[in-house]
Order: sequence, then C-alpha cells, then structure tokens
Amino acid sequence: MKNIVVLVGSLRKDSINKTYTHALEKLATGQFAFHYADMDLPLYNDDLWQSPPAKVVALKEAIAKADGILIVSPEYNRSIPAVTKNAIDWASRPYGQNAWKGKAVAITGASTGSQGTAVMQSQLRSSLVILGTAVLGDPEVYITFKPEMLDADGAFANEGTVKFLKGFLDNFDAWIDRVK
Ligand code: FNR
Repeated sequence: MKNIVVLVGSLRKDSINKTYTHALEKLATGQFAFHYADMDLPLYNDDLWQSPPAKVVALKEAIAKADGILIVSPEYNRSIPAVTKNAIDWASRPYGQNAWKGKAVAITGASTGSQGTAVMQSQLRSSLVILGTAVLGDPEVYITFKPEMLDADGAFANEGTVKFLKGFLDNFDAWIDRVK
C-alpha cells in the first residue's frame, strides 16, 4: 500500500473538497493510505525559519517520506487559494531544501462552478513543475461538485464517476512507480 500525503486547500469544516477527498479515499481503499496534512499554517514568512513552526516541519517531513502527494484544492478568483499556495511555498524552502523535488504529485479539485477548478489547476501545475515535481498529466480531473455525486455513505454514487476516478487513482499509482 502506498503512503500518500494529501493537501486539501480548504480550512472550512464543510468543505466540498474535503468531502470529495474522503470519497476518493474510500475508492483508494487497499491501494493508498491517505495522510492528511495540517493546512492551517502561519502565513509564509522567511524570518520564521530561525525557529520553524512545528506544523511546517511536520509537513516537510511528511512530504519527504511520502510515496506520492495528492493536492485537492478549490479555485478562488480563477487562481490558487492562499491556503494551498502557502503550504506549497513553505515546503519549497528554506532555499536549497525544497521538499518537493523529485516527488510524484497528482492534482484535482472541486468547485461549485462549471469549470471545476480547471484554471486553478493549470496555475498549480506551472508552480509544481518549477519545483521539480513530476505532476501526473493524465487524466485531468475537474469536479463540479453536486451533493448527489455521493451516496449515503459518502462514496461516489455514479458508476461512470467511479470508473473515471478509479482510473485516475490507478494512473497515479503507476506514475509513482515510474517516478521512483
Ligand atoms: C470561490 N468560488 C469559486 N469557484 C470557482 O469555480 N471559481 C472561482 O474562481 C471561485 N472563486 C471563489 C473565490 C472565493 C474567495 C470563494 C470563497 C469562493 C466558489 C468555490 O468553488 C466554493 O466556495 C467552494 O465551496 C470552495 O471549496 P470548499 O471550501 O467548499 O472546499
């Protein structure tokens, strides 16, 4: 079973991205063990490296140990939310100690809008590439979230959605092996 660190870019309790990620986790049972990163980090400040916040140290250690990293993020104003970007920036520093380098990463996201985080993902991909990650390119997974996507247990209700997202997880699984 692969160890996947999961960064969900929303802090709110009823986040659709958290709900969506939990459904993905169910689908990945027996394949991936999800470890959720604490995303409630201080705003990036270079001065804090003198005595780095424990949560930042934990994030960097988790990324270093992970087989792969899954980033699930909302889209804010056609861009990357501060919560998501802040975690990426913290893990990229201090200079010369970029935790992202060489890591296999998959990205996805859910929004209430019809474009399902496509613009955010495009920008996220650009940032991750310059950090030296290997970002999964196929399939692209843009989710316009509707509560009826899930059944009473919080699993994906639709057979087509299950097939598509299982394909996403399987491609990520194979991608991790390739990157290693
Ligand atoms: C949004 N939302 C949004 N949706 C979208 O598809 N494209 C966008 O550019 C934006 N912009 C945006 C900005 C801000 C500041 C907020 C708060 C929201 C709507 C967004 O998809 C919706 O609030 C989701 O529910 C956010 O995800 P979580 O927090 O539920 O995971």
